[in-house]
Amino acid sequence: MNDKPQILITGGTGLVGSYLRRFIIEQQLPYRIGVLSRRPVQLPHAKTYLWDIEKEQIDPKALEESDYIIHLAGAGIADKPWTAERKRLILESRTRSTALLYKALKNNPHRVKHFVSASAVGYYGFDTGDRLLHEDSPPGNDFLAQVVVAWEKEIFRIAELMPAVALRIGIVLSNEGGALPQLARPVRWFVGAPLGSGKQYLSWIHIRDLCRLFLYALQKPLDTGVYNAVEGKPVTNAEMTRIIARVLGRPLWLPKVPAFVLKTLLGEMANLVLGGNRVSNEKVIQSGFSYEFTEPEAALRDLLK
Ligand SMILES: NC(=O)c1ccc[n+]([C@@H]2O[C@H](COP(=O)([O-])OP(=O)(O)OC[C@H]3O[C@@H](n4cnc5c(N)ncnc54)[C@H](OP(=O)(O)O)[C@@H]3O)[C@@H](O)[C@H]2O)c1
Repeated sequence: MNDKPQILITGGTGLVGSYLRRFIIEQQLPYRIGVLSRRPVQLPHAKTYLWDIEKEQIDPKALEESDYIIHLAGAGIADKPWTAERKRLILESRTRSTALLYKALKNNPHRVKHFVSASAVGYYGFDTGDRLLHEDSPPGNDFLAQVVVAWEKEIFRIAELMPAVALRIGIVLSNEGGALPQLARPVRWFVGAPLGSGKQYLSWIHIRDLCRLFLYALQKPLDTGVYNAVEGKPVTNAEMTRIIARVLGRPLWLPKVPAFVLKTLLGEMANLVLGGNRVSNEKVIQSGFSYEFTEPEAALRDLLK
């Protein structure tokens, strides 16, 4: 019997979860990995457990055999058009999955002692201009903000049972998916341009720093509460586009893409690119965490090399 503690990662097959699993293995960190998934996937160096959120079923062994939970599960925000059905799924895949974990942890024997969940800077609202936002800033009232408010409410029910942390994640920069390939592709093909006014802030985090922060939250461990998971230097959309162009050695010559074009193409989802937040990471820094990638250009050179 292996006595290393096990981290159970919900949604551990996604962008962040896959990197996190690889990071734990490559760094030879002293953890076993469990993945709680909706499908019976075979993953290297990880034990897979099944859950069915609609049916409120979860393999009891997942909790019995785990010491920590990192909760990442949720339907993709930018994967499909926001129909009423898709919006329901975006909300309920987060609230109902978290509620199911709460119920299972409350009613079953287990040895889980710390819970760390993804949350999102979408909490603050889709466009908060250049106001610097801290964890106690008020929530927005658009769709995504409402999703995050409801999600965090479920996360902090778990704080009745054990320390619970919500990391309000900014835009995750990775070369394997998420926002960066979408931002970089047009630039690579010589047709990159800032979106809308270009003045909207992107509060970003390098995927490696995000995974280090998830593990730090368990190891330190961080006290119950909300923490902004962003790097210290948010940049505007126009600056980010310029830096990508510089890193890729491409010219930027096109005018900005007007907001109405994006609204026509994307509908309500245009909020994701036309709005933005300037988010502070002071609380995470105060906790003692040190980031590897503080400069956007260094992060982009690392990822786009
Ligand atoms: N990536 C970002 O820029 C970003 C920014 C802010 C916040 N976040 C949050 O961080 C978390 C992880 O992000 P990610 O980019 O790794 O997400 P992702 O790649 O979309 O993966 C999320 C995982 O959630 C599970 N999932 C998908 N649809 C689901 C559903 N309907 N019900 C239950 N589970 C479902 C899937 O795992 P299985 O198929 O194995 O069940 C999937 O692999 C998400 O909650 C996301 O909202 C991400």
